Formats: sequence, structure tokens, C-alpha cells
Amino acid sequence: MALIVLTSASGSPGVTTSTLGLALSWPRPSLLVEADPTGGSGILAGYFHGDVAHIGGLIDLALAHREGTLAEAIGRATMAIPDSVVQLLPGIRSHSQSASLIPLWEPLSAALRALERNGQDVIVDAGRLGLAGCPEPLIYGADLTLLVTRSTLPALSGARSWAETLRGEFERTGASSSLGVLLVGDGEPYGAREVSKVLQIPVTASLALDEDGAAVFSRGANPPRRFESSQLLRELRAAASAIQFVVNANRASLGVTPDVWSQT
Ligand SMILES: Nc1ncnc2c1ncn2[C@@H]1O[C@H](COP(=O)(O)OP(=O)(O)OP(=O)(O)O)[C@@H](O)[C@H]1O
Ligand SMILES: [Mg+2]
Repeated sequence: MALIVLTSASGSPGVTTSTLGLALSWPRPSLLVEADPTGGSGILAGYFHGDVAHIGGLIDLALAHREGTLAEAIGRATMAIPDSVVQLLPGIRSHSQSASLIPLWEPLSAALRALERNGQDVIVDAGRLGLAGCPEPLIYGADLTLLVTRSTLPALSGARSWAETLRGEFERTGASSSLGVLLVGDGEPYGAREVSKVLQIPVTASLALDEDGAAVFSRGANPPRRFESSQLLRELRAAASAIQFVVNANRASLGVTPDVWSQT
């Protein structure tokens, strides 16, 4: 099992869209966790058009944790995304619930790692950095945390100060290689090389700007023609491979015995 976290510094660069796109392009079963403390479940409202009732999700897990039944409650708090091998753990309905999640993040991080037995990888939408209720134990405990950013000057200027904070924290724990950038809009105008130089974090993967394709994930729009072979979907699959490569390399350098993860 690998724990992959996507987060952003400012703006709305496409964390939710990319998290869902990655989960749906993932080569193995995955669990998508909506850990954005802003609340409002972007996926139930967007991809599902608000047609699906909000099951308890994370808030049920916060209650279960208080009762000491967290591990058993995870399965009940998730729902299947149709026509996929993705399970969704919906986030909170309102930001006012985010304080209830603070004691949950640490034990949830451990419980998610235990999903290894099910052969499930976990992909987390951590929302914007610095918000009250931010899932820091997931961000700093992940196999790979990706700072999602656009490549415009305002986006990079917003990402730069957070990049420094993240670098410092990952360096402190000796996990610098568990930090990467997911660049949305490579070359629009800046490219991966310039972005990694400015942020001093390697660009693990890049995604094309594709408004109509992205709307499939962010708003549940009908797929445009030839969506399956579009640049966005090809790059999502390439991003999934690049992420696996980094996680495997990190595990190898730690001398961790390869599991089913390395055979994909
Ligand atoms: N690769 C892309 N190409 C073009 N548009 C995109 C891409 N990814 C996301 N978008 C669009 O950007 C907008 C914001 O996306 P999204 O909601 O995923 O951002 P976010 O980072 O999760 O924002 P927030 O921090 O507000 O939750 C949406 O309209 C989405 O369709
Ligand atoms: Mg979002």
C-alpha cells in the first residue's frame, strides 16, 4: 500500500480534479480520501452532481475513533465510485466540522497504512495548506506528497513560500525524496525545469491544461470526444507510473521488502 497526498498552496490549481483523475487512472484498487478541511465534498457535489446522498465519511470515522473502533469503521464510511475500482471516503460537509478531525488524522494515517492487506493504495485530497484542520499527519507521513501548482507567476509565487516550509519539514525527518510537485499546465507559461528550480522540489509529473477533460472529473461533465486517448488521460496514467516509480525507489533505498506494489 502506498499513501499519496495531493495538496496546494494557493488558488485552485486542480487538486481535487487531479486526485480523482489519478485515482480513476490508477493501475490498482485505490481509496480516495477527501481530507480537504474546507468541507463540502467537491467530489459528491462535482463528479456526482450532488445526486448521491452524503454518507458519513470522515466525520463518522472521527466518532468511531472516539469509541475506539476506527479500523472497523473505514469500510462502512466509504462508497464505491461506479465503473471503477475506486472507493471514496467522503470529506466533511462543513468547515465547522474540521476541528473534530484534528485528533483523527494521526490514527487515520496508521489505519490507512494497514489497508495494505487489501492491496489498496490511498490517494488523498488534502486541500489547501495552512487551513484549520489541515491533515498534517497525512501530508508529512505520506510515501509521496505532491504540491500541486499551475505554472503561472502568481501560482509559483504562492507556492514558493509553502515549498520552503514543506522542504524544511521533509528534510527534518530525512524524507526529502517523499516530496514532489504535480505541475498542472506544463509550459503555460513555465515548464517543469523552471518550476523545479524555483520551488527547489522535483516535478514528479505534469498534466496538460484541458478544460473540457478536467470538467469530467471536477463537474461530472460528459466526456469530450476521444477522451480516453486524450493528452490529459495519457498524462494521468504517466503520472500514476511516475508516482509508483518514486515510491518504489524510496522504499528500495530504505531497504523495504517490495510488496505487490512493486509488481505493477
Ligand atoms: N488539468 C486541468 N486543465 C484545465 N482545467 C483544470 C485542470 N485541472 C483542474 N482544472 C479546473 O480548475 C478548476 C479548479 O479545479 P479543482 O476544484 O480541482 O481545484 P482545487 O485545487 O481542488 O481547488 P480548491 O482548493 O478550491 O479545492 C476546475 O474548474 C477544474 O475543472
Ligand atoms: Mg479541491
